[in-house]
Amino acid sequence: MSEVHVYPVPDSFKNSSSIDLEGYQAMYDQSVNDPDTFWAEQANQFLTWQAPWSQVTKSDLNKGEVAWFIDGKLNVSLNCIDRHLPARADQVAIIWEGDDPDEDQFISYQELHDQVCRLANALRARGVKKGDRVCIYMPMIPEATYAMLACARVGAVHSVVFGGFSPEALKDRILDADCQVVITADEGLRGGKRVPLKANADTALANCPNVHTCIVVRRTAGSISWDGARDFWYHDLIAKQAATCEPEVMDAEDPLFILYTSGSTGKPKGVLHTTGGYLLQAAMTHKYVFDYQEGETYWCTADVGWVTGHSYIVYGPLTNGATTLVFEGIPTYPDASRFWQVIDKHQVNIFYTAPTAIRALMGAGDDWVKKTARTSLRVLGTVGEPINPEAWEWYYRVIGDSRCPIVDTWWQTETGAHMLTPLPGAIALKPGSATLPFFGVQPALLDAEGKEVQGAGEGNLVIKAAWPSQIRSVYGDHQRCIDTYYSTYPGYYFTGDGARRDEDGYYWITGRVDDVLNVSGHRMGTAEVESALVLHEKVAEAAVVGYPHDIKGQGIYAYVTLMSGEEPSDELKKELLALVVKEIGAIARPDIIQWAPGLPKTRSGKIMRRILRKIAANEIDSLGDTSTLADPSVVTQLIENRANK
Ligand code: WT7
Repeated sequence: MSEVHVYPVPDSFKNSSSIDLEGYQAMYDQSVNDPDTFWAEQANQFLTWQAPWSQVTKSDLNKGEVAWFIDGKLNVSLNCIDRHLPARADQVAIIWEGDDPDEDQFISYQELHDQVCRLANALRARGVKKGDRVCIYMPMIPEATYAMLACARVGAVHSVVFGGFSPEALKDRILDADCQVVITADEGLRGGKRVPLKANADTALANCPNVHTCIVVRRTAGSISWDGARDFWYHDLIAKQAATCEPEVMDAEDPLFILYTSGSTGKPKGVLHTTGGYLLQAAMTHKYVFDYQEGETYWCTADVGWVTGHSYIVYGPLTNGATTLVFEGIPTYPDASRFWQVIDKHQVNIFYTAPTAIRALMGAGDDWVKKTARTSLRVLGTVGEPINPEAWEWYYRVIGDSRCPIVDTWWQTETGAHMLTPLPGAIALKPGSATLPFFGVQPALLDAEGKEVQGAGEGNLVIKAAWPSQIRSVYGDHQRCIDTYYSTYPGYYFTGDGARRDEDGYYWITGRVDDVLNVSGHRMGTAEVESALVLHEKVAEAAVVGYPHDIKGQGIYAYVTLMSGEEPSDELKKELLALVVKEIGAIARPDIIQWAPGLPKTRSGKIMRRILRKIAANEIDSLGDTSTLADPSVVTQLIENRANK
C-alpha cells in the first residue's frame, strides 16, 4: 500500500458551530453505550412530534425486525415544511436549475407549502388515502419533490422510479407495489434531449389494470397520447384545490416510501423505509456530515429516482430548513463547465456528487473549472462507489482549491442515510477512505468463518446493531428481506460490501462481494442483465460480470452462448443491446459482449464467475485454480477471444 496522505481538519472548521473530534467521540460513545438517551434527545432536537414515543427502539436482527420511536406520531411533510413557516416562509426552500442554463426558479417555503397542499388535496380527491402506493416517474423538476411531499402529507407510500428506467422496468415496479396512481410528465429534458416519460408510462400502464389515475406535468408541451378516463393534467387537478391541507397523523413506523434496488438474485427488491427513524437519520446526517449552517445553499446532484435524492435532496435538507438545489440537467451540458457555473450562479456552499462524475469532468481538463470562481464552496461530498485517490485529490485541489474537506459517505439504499463518513470539523481525511462510523452505527468485519476481525484487517462489512433509518422490509416479501440481509451472518445486517480497517480504525470499502455491479454509481444485479439477454430466442445462456472502467468505475461485460446452429453477428449484438435497454434501461446496456461457445462451470454446473471476472479484467495471469472445472478447455477459448486485451 502506497503512503497515505492525511488531510487534517482545516482551521476554518475549528469554530463553535462545527462539531470537533472530542465532540464526535463523546457523541459516538453515548450513541452506542446509551442509545435510548442519545436517540431520544436527537429525535426531540431534529423533529417535531405530534405524540411522544413509548419506547425508543426495539429490534431483533435475526428476524429482520427493527422499530424506532414506537407509538410516536409525526408527519414528514409537516416536518419538512409547515413547522418552518413562522421563521422561513419567504426563505428559498428549493432552487431549481433547469437543463437550459437560462431557466431557473426559486421556491420559498410558503410556496412549497401551497404547492404540496394543492397536490395533496388533489390526490385525496382522486381517492388516495393513507397506506396507498403512488408511483412517481418524473424528471428533475420541482413537481417531483412536491409529489413526494404530497404523498407524505396524505400518508401515501411513494415509489419513485428513476426516469431512465424502461417501460418494462416501470411496469414491474408498479405491479410489485400495486400502485394505483402514477405521477409523471409529458417529457423530461436532459442535456438538450427529450425523454419520453408519458409515452413510456403509457406502454407500462397498458399492463397495469389497477392504475386508475395518471397525473401528467406539462414540462415540454411535446405531443403525447391521452387516455381521457385515466390521464389528468397536473395543473388542471391542482387548480381547483385549496392551498392548505391537513396532514395525516402518521405512526413513526408507518411506511414512507418504497424504493427498488438490485440484488444478486431475481428482480429488484422494494426496499421499505418508514417515517420517524428514517427522517431523523436523514436530517441528522445532513446537518453533521455536511456541517450544514443556517442560511447556506446546498446542492446534491443525484436524481430523486435514487435514495441519495430522497435523503439528501428532499428529506434531510428540508427537515433542516435548508435551501436545496434541484438540477434538471447533466454535468456536461451545454459544456463540461456546467457544475462549476451553477455553483457560482447560485453561490453553492455544499456540493455532493458521485465519483463517476468527478472522473468524467477530470478527464475533460482543468480549463473548464479554472474559468469559474467556486469561492462559495465550503464542503464537498462524494457517494455511490469507492473514489480512487487520484480523483479525490483532483476534486480536493482543483474543485475545492485545497480549502474544502471532502466527505466520502458510504451507505446504501437499505441503510437510508450515511453510515460511514467523515464529519468535516472533526475527522482528518484519507483519500479513498469513508473513515469512521456515524453516530449509532456499529460496523464490524467478518472473516471467512464469520468471526469478527479485531483491529486492522479485512473482511465482509456487517452492522451489529439496529440504526434508525434501517430498511424495515422488502415490500410484500419479508422473508426475502431476512434471506438477503440477515441470514448470511445471523445476528448481523450484511451489507454485501467488503472493507478494510486500518490502524486508525478508518474503513476502506473494497467493493461488493456479491453479484451486484456498480456502474457509474448505479446498482445493477448481474442476474437482471442475464435474464434480459436470455429472453432472446437465439441465446442459450449468458453470464454477466463487472470489469474495471476508467470513468464508470465498473463496466458491464457479458458472455453470451448461442443456441446450437446460431451464428454470432454484429446485428445480433445490436439486438441484444437493444433488448437489455428495453427490459431495464440504458444504464444497464453492456459495454462488452463476448461470444462464448461455453462457460466455465463446475462439475455440478455452477458458473465460475471468479474466472469470468478475471478474463474480463484481463488478469489472466491470476486465474487461480481451474482444475475443478467440468471442461477446463473452455477457459483457454474464452481467453483467446477476450474483448478487453
Ligand atoms: C452500494 C450501495 C448510498 C447511495 C448511493 C448508492 C457502494 C456507496 C460508497 C462509498 C464506496 C460506496 C457500495 C454500496 N457505495 N457509497 N462512499 N464508497 N462504495 O446506493 O445503489 O444502494 O448502492 O454502493 O458498494 O453497497 P445503492
